[in-house]
Amino acid sequence: MTNIITTPIFYANGAPHLGHAYSGYLADVFKRFHSLTSDNPCCLITGTDEHGQKILEAAECSQVGIQQFVDDKAQAFKALWPELAVQVDVFVRTSEEQHLKLIQTIWHKLLEKGDVYLGYYQGLYCLGCEQYYTAYELEDNCCPIHKTPVENKSEETYLFRLDAYRQQLIEHYLNSSDFITPNYYCQVILDYLNQGPLEDLSVSRVNIPWGIKVPNHQEHTIYVWIDALFSYITAIQKAGFDLGVLEQTTHIIGKDILKFHAIYWPALLLAADLPLPKKLIVHGWWTINGQKIAKSNPKTLITPKDLVDKLTCDGLRYALFRQKHVARDGNIVINELIESINADLANNFANLVKRNHTIVLKYFAGNIDAKVISQRALADESKLTIQYCEQAINEIFNYYKQFDFHNASLLLKDTLDHCNRFFHQRAPWEISKGKDNISVQETCLVISNLLRLVATAAYPLVPTLARQVLQELGEDIATCQWQSVCDIKSITINKALSHFKRLEKEH
Ligand code: MSP
Repeated sequence: MTNIITTPIFYANGAPHLGHAYSGYLADVFKRFHSLTSDNPCCLITGTDEHGQKILEAAECSQVGIQQFVDDKAQAFKALWPELAVQVDVFVRTSEEQHLKLIQTIWHKLLEKGDVYLGYYQGLYCLGCEQYYTAYELEDNCCPIHKTPVENKSEETYLFRLDAYRQQLIEHYLNSSDFITPNYYCQVILDYLNQGPLEDLSVSRVNIPWGIKVPNHQEHTIYVWIDALFSYITAIQKAGFDLGVLEQTTHIIGKDILKFHAIYWPALLLAADLPLPKKLIVHGWWTINGQKIAKSNPKTLITPKDLVDKLTCDGLRYALFRQKHVARDGNIVINELIESINADLANNFANLVKRNHTIVLKYFAGNIDAKVISQRALADESKLTIQYCEQAINEIFNYYKQFDFHNASLLLKDTLDHCNRFFHQRAPWEISKGKDNISVQETCLVISNLLRLVATAAYPLVPTLARQVLQELGEDIATCQWQSVCDIKSITINKALSHFKRLEKEH
């Protein structure tokens, strides 16, 4: 069955920033890992969240009409993904006709079941989050995320009987303690659910002209988060899949939108008689000078394309994962990113490839027959290096599987360190000074075969570099499968190009 991986759909009220790019990278790394390790396809879904007061206000400040405004923003997000080498399969927009129809159908269903009813709600609303807060959740009377004052609203609204699903949610979290990664969030959610009855959720707004109207009650607009969450279903339908694939769906989300995905979304799915997703992957925030990167804070806005131009496409995505654990927050310091890119990709990886391939081309016309190692036993250091790398590649596999791309990158670097140490110890370049020819062939054969494994394992994180290295080794990434066992095969190297230029630090 197809696996689905989703990013959140991004608010169409500004240009994409680095925090958004990171969600896409998480999804793409997993998708590429999946392509190496499974026969089932993996479909990557993303899109734009285009309704609600926040978007309308942003459009009003611009020179263009609202539809044109969201069209432009959606286009900016669509254009972003190829720039980052994120392979999107479905791009969904909440202003699409197909989505409108789905939301209306869901609404009818929830209304008919009695899960949604007309009532009244009074609460403290943050426009930035498009959500109500309780007084005790506020910090100095401000939204804990945006640090801006909340609005006291009291209005007629449709309400969703959230508490009707509390027990089922508790059971779900008790039975699937790995539903959220990192899994300590499962306990956080369970504690919240166990506190007592859940307040009904306000699911419509009055006086919001931009959004999906409540069927047969045009003064009400459906709450933008209900509209947004069900876009995952619209996207699944757009891709032509059966809704059963929800069970194979992994949602990538930032920690700020956990409650929506861990409580409201499963409750709504249960109410709509739909299956629950497979997993939530929760990531931390990127900051600049300690401040969260956010559209509302212009000082923090880095355009992902500018960073790609500076650090290269592979460099940026690699450095982001190398820099911090997925679940934690991390601060962006460009020179730190450049340092790890130069050390790990230019020196440790690309340079080793170039040196090894140059020797194979120069002294062996690009070919080394695996038979050379049957002429004498493999040297101990060859055996140990192979053993170490095989074990590391196995561990990297498990890190990828758990979305722990930080530790995957660290272990990848460590594996390349090992390969480099082996290469230096064996000094195959001394062939020019008369070093034993068979020993040099053994070194290059071992390194070339290990590089095949390492490049495959590196592909999700550095797709361009890995593809080029594999090409030189005569492999096509399109048909490559994950390998953890290093069979020493004969090699044919066709080129020895420089695949990664060192980056200049900023002053
Ligand atoms: N539209 C909602 C999501 C609806 S999903 C059904 C939304 N949009 S958003 O544009 O504000 O945020 C989208 C994602 O970007 C969230 O997961 C959020 O955590 C992530 N990021 C926004 N700023 C970020 C950082 N500074 N760092 C990392 N990711 C952050 O919420």
